[in-house]
Amino acid sequence: MKVLIFGAGGREHALAWAVKRSPRVTEVVCAPGNGGIAQVARCVSADLKDVQSMLRVALAERPDLTIIGPELPLSLGIVDALEAEGLRVFGPSRQAAMLESSKAFAKQFMKRHQIPTAAYAVCTTAAEVDKSIELFHPPIVVKADGLAAGKGVILCDSRTTAAEAAHGLFNGTLLGAAEQQIVLEEFLVGEELSFMCLSDGKTVLPLAPAQDHKRIGEGDTGPNTGGMGVYSTDSMLEPAMREWIMHHIAQPTVTAMAEEGTPFKGVLYCGLMMTPRGPEVLEFNARFGDPETQAVLLRLESDLVDVLEACVDGRLHEVELQWKPGASACVIASSSGYPGSYKTGFPISGLGIAAQVENTQVFHSGTAQLGSQIVTNGGRVLGVTATGDSLHHALDRAYKAMSDIHFEGIYYRSDIGHRALSGKK
Ligand code: AMP
Ligand code: GLY
Repeated sequence: MKVLIFGAGGREHALAWAVKRSPRVTEVVCAPGNGGIAQVARCVSADLKDVQSMLRVALAERPDLTIIGPELPLSLGIVDALEAEGLRVFGPSRQAAMLESSKAFAKQFMKRHQIPTAAYAVCTTAAEVDKSIELFHPPIVVKADGLAAGKGVILCDSRTTAAEAAHGLFNGTLLGAAEQQIVLEEFLVGEELSFMCLSDGKTVLPLAPAQDHKRIGEGDTGPNTGGMGVYSTDSMLEPAMREWIMHHIAQPTVTAMAEEGTPFKGVLYCGLMMTPRGPEVLEFNARFGDPETQAVLLRLESDLVDVLEACVDGRLHEVELQWKPGASACVIASSSGYPGSYKTGFPISGLGIAAQVENTQVFHSGTAQLGSQIVTNGGRVLGVTATGDSLHHALDRAYKAMSDIHFEGIYYRSDIGHRALSGKK
């Protein structure tokens, strides 16, 4: 089998690594890939903002299976375009991906189907914001409707700052492009949980649970990022709670999407807040999480290609996933300055030594190959990922491997998974 993966980050490196392990796979192609992915796949260039560019790659390669990594191509309709050419694709259609690409759509969908989520108002004008905001108690969450690479959510501690943020989204001063609609939302308190499920449009199969660390600073301080580290253990989600989430959130979402004529095939990532009144949806993503995927795929013992094909073919009910017991953890090394501006092109050393740590994989998020040298090429640079019998072991390995790696301005959080270890979770 030849498998084509679209994307350029750590998630796609983990996907390429897992796909390559399948005995059925003879060739992995990644477009555009990065310096680390080039070690497990043949990388070809493609513009992830341009469906025609991706379509050209797929038609030239004629893969047996195509996997879409990031949200942008999904929101542009890459799956629809590839399927129209008769290709087999893992990922949701443009309409189904609206669960991620429009927060207003997702909120209204959840309301229609009684899926638990924070109270909200969708506003299309500044006047509507000024009126609706009176109904919310601070803190108030203001969200851009569209994709914003993690920058579209603003937590506001007063009505005045919330109104300013909403106005800033409408007039384009906050994100560059002007938003047509925004969401005001009740602030939820609790632990976050990344609950990723596979779906073939009908059946839902949960992956191992994970917790992301979104803030840049130790102790969950500072601005939000794409994710600075993840851990996954069996004990972080009791079986009864998993059943509740499946029964009240994941399965009803997939069932209702099918009923509405937009079946959801791919990864339904439920970003949950475990509130005192139960789990509530913070957001849906229509793809694998990054860096959740790095930690979760390292624990997957089943053949990923078999599983993704079952999704594409509508046979997910036949699949039972096998997981490594214990735990995994992924620690992100980022460039100095991230999530603000940062420099790239710094040589990375120690990757060979780090790779020798037992049960550890160094997935590349933002790297490039310059001759024989791997250099930094993004805000998030590496995801050092390890498994272990316990979270302690997994973290020890990941941090041991991280200590071998160097590049100018390297930054990583040293407290990934610590709240779980100290029992404060
Ligand atoms: P989102 O892109 O919607 O996942 O939001 C990014 C992050 O903002 C989430 O992971 C939460 O940490 C935070 N967030 C989003 N919505 C809320 C909310 N209603 N209450 C509290 N925190 C939120
Ligand atoms: N790690 C969060 C996300 O993938 O959206």
